[in-house]
Amino acid sequence: NHILTQDDFVGQDELSYPFEERGLQFGDGIYEVIRIYGGRYYLIHEHVERLYRSAAAIKIQVPYKKEDLYAKLDELLEKNKVTGDAKVYLQITRGSAPRDHAFPDGIEANLYAYVKDLPRPEEKLKNGVTTISHDDVRWDWCYIKSLNLLGNVLAKQAAKEKDCYEAVLHKDGEVTECSSSNAYLVKDGKVYTHPPKKNILHGCVRMRVEAFCDQEGIEFVEETFSLEDLQDADEVFLSSSTSEVMPILKVDELTIADGTPGPVTRTLQKCYEQDAG
Ligand code: PDD
Repeated sequence: NHILTQDDFVGQDELSYPFEERGLQFGDGIYEVIRIYGGRYYLIHEHVERLYRSAAAIKIQVPYKKEDLYAKLDELLEKNKVTGDAKVYLQITRGSAPRDHAFPDGIEANLYAYVKDLPRPEEKLKNGVTTISHDDVRWDWCYIKSLNLLGNVLAKQAAKEKDCYEAVLHKDGEVTECSSSNAYLVKDGKVYTHPPKKNILHGCVRMRVEAFCDQEGIEFVEETFSLEDLQDADEVFLSSSTSEVMPILKVDELTIADGTPGPVTRTLQKCYEQDAG
């Protein structure tokens, strides 16, 4: 496995970090998960732009110029002979230095990116998934794709313990997003989702879902919906680079409509397949 670092490619076993590394000690860094279909990146531009935005927001200098990063990410797929469906995980931390909350002077960012095979979740895309609701206890700046994922991790684990796929996060009953995906409600043919404020991640697939809605003449409404609104929702779904457009059949004990994937979700899934194909 060839891994891209801030300097160049290394083998998996050559990658090592000093014990005082700010990603490990503070979660002081950012990341991206980029989808690959048939050996080719999907929404690479959106992910790279968001990476630079996240880095700027926490004052980290990305160790590559944008055009060089694109070239290195292509090289990552070539070196690893990726031809199928996969994902790239890329993270950048502020770097290594003696532990101090404030940024150490002269510190240089650490980057690594690796690629891993990842088949499409076909069975779940077809049949849908169940979820729990969970308090959104995360910080206010979730638009930054930060390595600080404790709130997300605990919510996802709570879902797993209930044999559920995801946790639908809410603040005082208003749905923000899910633990690692964006959340949507369909009512009377309109798609509702949380506005792209600082308290949710502005998903790359979410941007495409908006475009698919435009294309299909489906109204895309950036308004929050509540846990109570789920009671008479026609459909609920989620989206992410790894989950695509995924039907949600249940939230806690509540079955959404008749408990099967709905027509708007199916339409958006078709759009996704065409776009990604
Ligand atoms: N998660 N919201 C959160 C909190 C996320 O972590 C993600 C992505 C999304 C969807 O973003 P996108 O459409 O750009 O993938 C929304 C990735 C897949 C992860 O952490 O594994």
